[in-house]
Amino acid sequence: MSANIVAILVLLALFYFPIYSPVSALSSNYYDKTCPQLEKTVTSTVQKATTNDKTVPAALLRMHFHDCFIKGCDASVLLASKGKKKAEKDGPPNVSLHAFYVIDNAKKAVEALCPGVVSCADILALAARDAVTLSGGPTWDVPKGRKDGRISQAIDTRQLPAPTFNISQLQQSFSQRGLSMEDLVALSGGHTLGFSHCSSFQNRIHKFNATHDIDPSMNPSFAASLRSVCPANNKAKNAGATLDSSTATFDNAYYKLLLQGKSLFSSDQALLTAPKTKNLVSKFAASQKAFEKAFVQSMIKMSSISGNGQEIRLDCKVVN
Ligand code: HEM
Ligand SMILES: *[C@@H]1O[C@H](CO)[C@@H](O)[C@H](O)[C@H]1NC(C)=O
Ligand SMILES: *[C@@H]1O[C@H](CO)[C@@H](O)[C@H](O)[C@H]1NC(C)=O
Ligand SMILES: *[C@@H]1O[C@H](CO)[C@@H](O)[C@H](O)[C@H]1NC(C)=O
Repeated sequence: MSANIVAILVLLALFYFPIYSPVSALSSNYYDKTCPQLEKTVTSTVQKATTNDKTVPAALLRMHFHDCFIKGCDASVLLASKGKKKAEKDGPPNVSLHAFYVIDNAKKAVEALCPGVVSCADILALAARDAVTLSGGPTWDVPKGRKDGRISQAIDTRQLPAPTFNISQLQQSFSQRGLSMEDLVALSGGHTLGFSHCSSFQNRIHKFNATHDIDPSMNPSFAASLRSVCPANNKAKNAGATLDSSTATFDNAYYKLLLQGKSLFSSDQALLTAPKTKNLVSKFAASQKAFEKAFVQSMIKMSSISGNGQEIRLDCKVVN
């Protein structure tokens, strides 16, 4: 082949496949040289916090999910409101977001070792992984190199999927972020950890629709037990239920219960309304290994949703 033809082919290839480096070219060894102690430091911070408060792992996992679903994984969820400008963490579905101090503690410890090098978004991604592992779930290499964003607005929390979503709304919410139906089913398994307030499943246990007071897809005695904790005119702000029967253990009980009509949210139940997602629920209910494998793959995808991050924040609560 003559040099001319090769040159033309190269030009054509460049034209058709423009080489652009995505903002977030993440890699597992990103901090190997600049902060070799990073992962140990984050893990021990999460471990210490979990010893004191068993609800920490669930909080960190959900925090990372919220971060990634709004503006990509850029630590926007960690920013504090400034006066009248409410940040994401003060947006409507914030009732269960807590344990921000764990990220702040990890950041302080990391800054002491390698100042100005590690993003808050990476620390949160690592903490979410550690939360899963410390709860008895799988472990994996977290790709790193995220940058922290400078924008956080309460109004953007409307972009989060709601617990009342049906399967098509869930599919849309996930596909907008490059996530598949398999990712949806695997990541919903995050509901093996943690707690929900009554308000998030109230729609299923009172005035479900014109003909049924209770969602008929729910197991009746399960629904009755939820109604006793969450009466129609619930006044107890902190009342609610655990997301599965083994709330501090990362296992596949969530899928087993889901098949028995014992899930909390309409969005959980919705996974049984399409053949494809229903088959995956059955697969994960039957095999903890299959669930863990899929969960790890989907977590890496979710935690790689790129944002508009530009800086390495020095304090995770405020922009530089
Ligand atoms: C599929 C769409 C999803 C919806 C509609 C949804 C909705 C919710 C709701 C309403 C709560 C309870 C909030 C409250 O009342 O306190 C919750 C809790 C939780 N969610 Fe999800 N979620 C979804 C996906 C995910 C994903 C992808 C993860 C992580 C992989 C996750 C992890 C958690 C955890 C760990 C909790 C418990 C939080 C705690 O106890 O502090 N969720 N979710
Ligand atoms: C949650 O958001 C509401 C506004 O929607 C705010 O009034 C409340 O203080 C927030 N709660 C927490 C714990 O940040
Ligand atoms: C889901 O809800 C949307 C909005 O209410 C509706 O348009 C759609 O038909 C529903 N899809 C299914 C599968 O129920
Ligand atoms: C109420 O929901 C049930 C179960 O989804 C359904 O069979 C029934 O038709 C609904 N009723 C109305 C009035 O929408």
